[in-house]
Amino acid sequence: MLKQWKVAMVGAGAIAGALIDAFFHTGVVTPERIRVINRNNRDQLLRLQAKYRIHPCDSIAEAVTDADLVILSVKPKDAAEALQEAAKSAPDHALYLSVVAGKSIEWMTGLIRAAQSEREQVAWPRVVRTMPNTSCQVRESATAYAASANCTEVDIQNVEILLRAVGSAHPIEERLLDAVTGLSGSGPAYFYYMVESLAKAAIDVGLDEKTAKDLLAQTIYGAALMLRHTGETPEKLRSDVTSPGGTTMAGISVLEARDFQNAVRAAVQAAAKRATELGE
Ligand SMILES: NC(=O)c1ccc[n+]([C@@H]2O[C@H](COP(=O)([O-])OP(=O)(O)OC[C@H]3O[C@@H](n4cnc5c(N)ncnc54)[C@H](OP(=O)(O)O)[C@@H]3O)[C@@H](O)[C@H]2O)c1
Repeated sequence: MLKQWKVAMVGAGAIAGALIDAFFHTGVVTPERIRVINRNNRDQLLRLQAKYRIHPCDSIAEAVTDADLVILSVKPKDAAEALQEAAKSAPDHALYLSVVAGKSIEWMTGLIRAAQSEREQVAWPRVVRTMPNTSCQVRESATAYAASANCTEVDIQNVEILLRAVGSAHPIEERLLDAVTGLSGSGPAYFYYMVESLAKAAIDVGLDEKTAKDLLAQTIYGAALMLRHTGETPEKLRSDVTSPGGTTMAGISVLEARDFQNAVRAAVQAAAKRATELGE
């Protein structure tokens, strides 16, 4: 049962903190069963301990000993060292879940196998690669994940429960994860940029900054709920509020004339390409 799982978090930065907060508030994992480790930043571990009652560790080996689940949440440049160190001491039955951008299941499996090479007859490691986004912090991430073929149904059910603690979970073919990185991984920043641009425009037409930002935050939130709850396509929702000769049409016409859709398409392609480059 997931609540009984021992969880090791290798890397206790922003995303791990958001996961721990969600696990704590939803109760999907027992905080006392979560062990965390950083490279240097022990203060962060102690803060997490004070707030969530997780168990801070002095080494990766201590963190992963007996772990049923090893969550790898370090920056891509630190991933090889941290994963190898974890795989040396984690039990054979441990499931690995990575939030590291761009690092493939094959790459992780290779490192784990190499680190386990001294052991006899180790089962092939089970690995889940995920791409959450920063909205984890408010438990509204759109998280896509891909699992190695040997993951069990129970693994997938548990991963879904864990990911749903921070938002929604979407199984996807691994080859599409770089595209997801360019879309929903970077996605919050696209919307922030849109809001930032709209806020500047609002000030130009006479609003104060606070009023503009309050109106825009509610507008984007309401639009997201409309997309989610009406079941309508974005095209239909847009056309419903765009009457010929009306105000919205006047605004959208300017975006069309400036090739807004192609600019957005190019942005997603560039971000997805960069995700692939970083993984390499
Ligand atoms: N933040 C997001 O919204 C987001 C979204 C999607 C994916 N991701 C992915 O999530 C991963 C983590 O991102 P983040 O924003 O949480 O980074 P972060 O805040 O920099 O946290 C990384 C943590 O890893 C620790 N660390 C580094 N090397 C280690 C090692 N060898 N052993 C143990 N701990 C080690 C660091 O500890 P020290 O501080 O002590 O060095 C730090 O606390 C990245 O790979 C990123 O691609 C993040």
